[in-house]
Amino acid sequence: MKIGVPKESVDGERRVALVPDVVKSLVKNEHVEVLVETGAGDAAGHPDSQYEEAGAEVVAGEVTWGADAVLRVAVPTLEEISKLSSGQLLISHLSPWTAAETNNALARAGVTAFAMEAIPRTTRAQAMDALSSQAAAAGYAATLIAARESGRFFGMMTTAAGTVPPAKVLVLGAGVAGLQAVATAKRLGAIVTGFDIRRAAWEQIASLGGRPLELDFIPDAEGEGGYARPLTDEENAQVRDALGQNAAKQDIIVTTAAIPGRPAPLLITADAVRGMSPGSVIVDLAAETGGNCELTEVGQTVVENGVRVIGPRNLASEMPAPASQLYAKNLENLLGLLVDEQGTLSVDFEDDILAAACITEGGAIKNERAAK
Ligand SMILES: NC(=O)c1ccc[n+]([C@@H]2O[C@H](COP(=O)([O-])OP(=O)(O)OC[C@H]3O[C@@H](n4cnc5c(N)ncnc54)[C@H](O)[C@@H]3O)[C@@H](O)[C@H]2O)c1
Repeated sequence: MKIGVPKESVDGERRVALVPDVVKSLVKNEHVEVLVETGAGDAAGHPDSQYEEAGAEVVAGEVTWGADAVLRVAVPTLEEISKLSSGQLLISHLSPWTAAETNNALARAGVTAFAMEAIPRTTRAQAMDALSSQAAAAGYAATLIAARESGRFFGMMTTAAGTVPPAKVLVLGAGVAGLQAVATAKRLGAIVTGFDIRRAAWEQIASLGGRPLELDFIPDAEGEGGYARPLTDEENAQVRDALGQNAAKQDIIVTTAAIPGRPAPLLITADAVRGMSPGSVIVDLAAETGGNCELTEVGQTVVENGVRVIGPRNLASEMPAPASQLYAKNLENLLGLLVDEQGTLSVDFEDDILAAACITEGGAIKNERAAK
């Protein structure tokens, strides 16, 4: 079986689908060959020579698109999909719930496509869960951006010239990315407060050394599959009010709140931003899905009353080496369910992980949610 790794083509995408260590592990199976496009790992710190040493063949891009299994990070363009043909396997992020054109093009091409966003969030699937591995990288990157842009010491600094107090950081949304932001800000020495509408997250914030902001007038909002349910308009207004008051006490806010399949909830109003001290910073990790802050603009920094509101895109790509390492491991684990000892591809649709993550197969959109 030939596995192809084309170079990523999306602007600013620095990750790569396979890292040399994972190539080494895959080619231990003598029936597996790995073909990597020249320069595919450069931006993640992996030159072609490392792939060759690991046992891959470094080839031109077109060759990788012809492999039995093609592995990618970012959603392929329609032009890239046109290079694929019937029976080929593609594993990538595919934005399957929103990118109808991608789903249709993959079905038309007869590709067996698996979306990393559709891996279930179950215990068995954890080792393949790229949403989690990449969210952890994004939460870490957001905190470092906040630290750098705030120009503050996160930890208390005692010097002969006096003592500088620690920075105060508020993290909104304490899922995978938010908890990583809490942990990172805490390790840097900040005084960290975390908030989530799921009560289970309060204990997790505390376990990382943060102080949970316990807005207990909102009933626990844990919904299906451990995700948050959307709040009612009234609850949202109450939360925004309370967060507005708390925001005024913070130097830095990192926002990560999300409801699957919906626009990001609005948590920090323009008025709340104006109530913060000049020099404060908000990093809105939810920028690409509408933002948790009213003033967020994706890919931009907006300055209001001296407060900078940063709306970064594709934050996991800011940490290309570790994000690629974890993503490659997620792919290797998924391939373990798809490729047998003889290097033969066989998709067992009785397997709940494969059944959930397969978007197109045999010329049709197989996944009900993606078909809608
Ligand atoms: N394999 C597993 O068992 C597994 C793996 C990953 C995540 N999970 C669980 O899945 C859940 C979602 O994790 P995620 O990181 O994908 O979340 P996510 O990216 O969907 O959302 C981020 C966080 O925002 C919170 N949120 C939503 N609306 C909010 C609001 N109005 N105010 C404040 N916070 C709000 C959510 O509760 C969530 O914690 C968590 O319970 C997590 O523990 C389980």
